[in-house]
Amino acid sequence: MTYVDASIAPMRNTGKVKLHDEAAFAGMRKAGRIAAEALDMLVPKVVPGVTTEELDRLVFNFALDHGVLPALVDYRGYTKSTCTSINHVVCHGIPDDKRLREGDIVNIDVTLLVDGWHGDTSRMYGVGEIPRKAERLLDITHESLMRGIAAVRPGATTGDIGHAIQTFAEAERCSVVRDFCGHGIGRLIHDAPNILHYGKRGEGIELKPGMIFTIEPMINLGRPHVKILSDGWTAVTRDRSLSAQFEHSVGVTETGVEVFTFSPLGLHKPPYAR
Ligand code: MF3
Ligand code: CO
Ligand code: CO
Repeated sequence: MTYVDASIAPMRNTGKVKLHDEAAFAGMRKAGRIAAEALDMLVPKVVPGVTTEELDRLVFNFALDHGVLPALVDYRGYTKSTCTSINHVVCHGIPDDKRLREGDIVNIDVTLLVDGWHGDTSRMYGVGEIPRKAERLLDITHESLMRGIAAVRPGATTGDIGHAIQTFAEAERCSVVRDFCGHGIGRLIHDAPNILHYGKRGEGIELKPGMIFTIEPMINLGRPHVKILSDGWTAVTRDRSLSAQFEHSVGVTETGVEVFTFSPLGLHKPPYAR
């Protein structure tokens, strides 16, 4: 694998892994915080009867109110500010006029462009009271993400991240979606390298200080297989089992990892209030 100094690399995905400087980390810190604040803002808004389009509009307005851009608008033909993935939807659900119902679980994924840097993060939300098996899936998925993050340090590999996620999720009798992965991020929303959420220790590429990427495991209660609906975006579990996802944008530091997208309000996973 070749690594390049991000400050002099072309601003496109060349397949090489960009190593970022302290100014980039500062940019990502700010972008990540505002993206996380958008997810915090949604917590009291995710209630029975609200539509995903209404939630999307709140994020769009939040972005403009903060002088930042909703980066998904116009991204590869996408038209919304968020992805909203309900129950058996794995990812890339498109906000629409469907109303959330008591007991639903929904992932809301935001990517905001702040002074040229992308903050990409998602969380799960429960709509009212949710079933015990859904709550269990959310806990397992969040813990999977945190174990993946805990594997990040210089000298570790991308495979170590995937291994940490996969071994935990599968020990809990859940499955890891293979069809989507985390990604390098920075001035580009999707850059090298891919961050697989499964794998073996020592596989993949070596992590070096200055790397910036997302970790965003999708974990299913049933089988891992997905299909894409005819809208060309929405990914669902083939067996219609429940699916969950959490996402953070992180950077590799000299000693370990920095998470850019932690909730400033400490709203890390449901239940956000009891
Ligand atoms: N935020 C998503 C991610 O984690 C991007 C989805 S691309 C879209 O990579 F076009 F579907 F929004
Ligand atoms: Co992402
Ligand atoms: Co995302």
